[in-house]
Amino acid sequence: MDRETVVPHVDSMPGERAKEWASYHQEHAAPSTYVYDFVWDITEDAEGPFCTDVDGNVLLDFTSHVAAAPLGYNNPKLLDRMAEFDLVDPTKIAGQDFYVSDGSSPGEEELPGPAALMDKLADLTSHYGMDTVFLSNSGAEAVENAIKIAYDNSGGAKYGITFEGAFHGRTLGALSLNRSKSVYRRNFPEISGVFDVPFCDDRSCTAETCSCGFFPDPESAVSKLRQKLHPKKGNVDASEVSYVIVEPIQGEGGYRFPSDAFADELASVVEDYDLTLIADEIQTGVGRTGEMWGADHYPMEPDIITGAKGLRVGATISNSDIFPEEKSRLSSTWGAGDILSSMQGVFTLEAIEEYDLMDNAVARGRQFKETMRDAAPDAVVDVRGKGLLLGVEFDTHERRNAVLEAALKRGLLTLACGYKVLRILPPLDVTEREIDIGAEMLLDAIEDVS
Ligand SMILES: Cc1ncc(COP(=O)(O)O)c(C=O)c1O
Repeated sequence: MDRETVVPHVDSMPGERAKEWASYHQEHAAPSTYVYDFVWDITEDAEGPFCTDVDGNVLLDFTSHVAAAPLGYNNPKLLDRMAEFDLVDPTKIAGQDFYVSDGSSPGEEELPGPAALMDKLADLTSHYGMDTVFLSNSGAEAVENAIKIAYDNSGGAKYGITFEGAFHGRTLGALSLNRSKSVYRRNFPEISGVFDVPFCDDRSCTAETCSCGFFPDPESAVSKLRQKLHPKKGNVDASEVSYVIVEPIQGEGGYRFPSDAFADELASVVEDYDLTLIADEIQTGVGRTGEMWGADHYPMEPDIITGAKGLRVGATISNSDIFPEEKSRLSSTWGAGDILSSMQGVFTLEAIEEYDLMDNAVARGRQFKETMRDAAPDAVVDVRGKGLLLGVEFDTHERRNAVLEAALKRGLLTLACGYKVLRILPPLDVTEREIDIGAEMLLDAIEDVS
């Protein structure tokens, strides 16, 4: 496959073999969120956003596996470096009890492992005063550990604050922070003392004109968050708040971008009340938005960052002062033990820097938005994004779903989020040609269902 000339082509999507594989997979797999019967054939050609499925269809994947494969398929920027690694067993060690190295001196690794990944992450968060990392297995675990260290650091403060529309994972602690679809919390026990306030996502909102509910009173321009914490009128004592957790840009909730007024007020309330701010960067981090972290776009100054997806492992990042000193407060067999994933994480971060992929994300994201806005299909009510975290909002839920299906039939993979939004997540090194092809396919799908 030549990435520079290949074009998607589809005989039938999903084809017969994909249906067979999907039903084989589901025979013993617990029901989860499978979106469509796309079955990647790992033995066939794939590069960048292009891949071949088990029926020989060549697809354009603008999901990047929900941002978890930030450089797409078989990217030589990664694979060429990983080719130096002769597979060993185990590739996952009990990293909370043991260390690993490639035999070189620390900091000079050809084959970087968990220590190098933590070193890199500390470096990439040093502007927030962070220097310490706890690696884990997933995004939800990164969130669990973030709230654990926040609870511990606040000496028993019992409240947490989250935002309407939020998604932070599916484990019992993390799910308590969710305020997007009810399916994430229904019938599950939750940690107590989690309050929510609106997330103001109308980009035109100001404190005086806000219709999102975050600034409920245009006269006073005092936010709900500030009202809640008011020493006399509020219903939550700020000294008992252990953390405020926010996705700098909401993901599952519908690619909701905070208004400037919201971002300013959040930063100022956190500062005024000296609250611990957790930025959940599991979807927005690792260069996806054109900055290393979503928070870098806004005035917020996180005390704790959670990462996962593009890093290939979960990461809770903060300052050593916030992490518990006592042994065994945090641990996990495979925390800091996944050699292969850590290596992929380091190479990904290095590729982002070496090949200016954040600049590319900004330029290609702009190209996508301009193309979609210029075409201005009636069914589309908003095209938004930062870098390559892009959302297309439709007039109805049904239309969004129909467009997702129509795009799939043409060989373009996209994902839904929120109620009416399609998310577009091309790999960070996507080219101008690939964006043109993808936007064209999407516009064609929209026209088809209109
Ligand atoms: C913002 C955010 N937080 C947490 C998670 C949970 O991550 P994981 O699925 O790796 O547990 C996700 C996953 O989509 C996410 O988008």
